[in-house]
Amino acid sequence: MTEPFDAVDLIVRKRDGGALETDQIAWLVDAFTRGAVADEQMSAWAMAVLLRGMDRREIRDLTLAMIDSGERMSFAGLGRPTVDKHSTGGVGDKITLPLAPLVASFGVAVPQLSGRGLGHTGGTLDKLEAIPGWRADLTPDAMRDQLREIGAVICAAGAGLAPADKRLYALRDITGTVESIPLIASSIMSKKIAEGTGALLLDVKFGSGAFMQRFEQAEELARTMVDLGTDAGVMTVALLTGMSVPLGLAVGNAVEVTESVEVLAGGGPSDVVELTVAIAREMLALAGLPDADPEAALADGRAMDTWRRMIAAQGGDPDAPLPAPAETEVVRAAADGVLVGVEAKAVGVASWRLGAGRARQGEPVQAAAGILLHAKPGDTVRAGQVLATLQTDEAARIPRALAALQGAHRMAPPGTAYTPEPLIAARIPAV
Ligand code: URA
Repeated sequence: MTEPFDAVDLIVRKRDGGALETDQIAWLVDAFTRGAVADEQMSAWAMAVLLRGMDRREIRDLTLAMIDSGERMSFAGLGRPTVDKHSTGGVGDKITLPLAPLVASFGVAVPQLSGRGLGHTGGTLDKLEAIPGWRADLTPDAMRDQLREIGAVICAAGAGLAPADKRLYALRDITGTVESIPLIASSIMSKKIAEGTGALLLDVKFGSGAFMQRFEQAEELARTMVDLGTDAGVMTVALLTGMSVPLGLAVGNAVEVTESVEVLAGGGPSDVVELTVAIAREMLALAGLPDADPEAALADGRAMDTWRRMIAAQGGDPDAPLPAPAETEVVRAAADGVLVGVEAKAVGVASWRLGAGRARQGEPVQAAAGILLHAKPGDTVRAGQVLATLQTDEAARIPRALAALQGAHRMAPPGTAYTPEPLIAARIPAV
């Protein structure tokens, strides 16, 4: 087959700061998916994009080309509005678990195509697989049936959705080209648009435990994704939320399921409840229900009923005890004082080293691995008080997890005033 373009020309054009035309981007992605553009050429182009950026039209073209590399799903005909949520990932971010059944309890369909964890941020599917019997893999028909009958589904994305993104992401992961706003935005939004949701709420995180450390970077990423959603006809709103401190008190797999169930039972840590309710309100407004009251659905058990049905529909036993760890270890405060920081990234890395996450795609994770925090910033603590409990099935993992936690708990002298940062820093409305 005679190719209309030469990959080297397109790499050089981007390397020198130029913009690629729509047909050039479409060809590049298609040829890469067919194997006509080599991995090293695509990697070089990704590096050129990371260094030179892309304009709004190029980002839209790249997103559309990645969507066109695979199948598009459709949730038309369900008889319910569909709203999805995507988080850019953080430590202790279990919000999807209580959120999907909460929003679905108002008659909205919430199709959560989720992933497994890689690196220090956990994966939603890994967490739910701690529930005995629960299955992540559903056929498209089973997913539609569950959405029609229950409204909430959390399952693995099929391989047919934006396969070009899957291949490009694997290259970016090993070539230092993940941290590019055009590449992250097109990667996330190609999958969300291909999935066929009617509306989308983005939780874009910033801080030490997030992809984007600085607020300004997260804001640019959020605006880029809101623009992409809007251009594709998906009503998209973004919240910018802090990720310097882990969300809630549980980080890991089974421990995060337990905390999510506490939220569904009307309790749970205040930051997890605040974010779950705020995101649910945004999603319900996007679904045409601006006056719905998510707090009431947590308090009166409606959200819990939907959770139980959602888990059972995917083979899980919502009443089964969750796996317990074989080994535990505690971290204690060295002195009296006020806890003023708990480094999210350090806690995420420690939980990962305990076995809650994986270093390579496909590795198994430990359901019982993770960390329970017993104090949050603002708490006054005494010398010797337990700050955290580490959980794992393998004692040999504990020393490296403890090393990751060195310095993660930042203390100030007794009586120091502590003012928390707002959890939700900004909202970027649909344009
Ligand atoms: N998540 C994605 O799906 N893609 C990225 O590029 C980064 C995070």
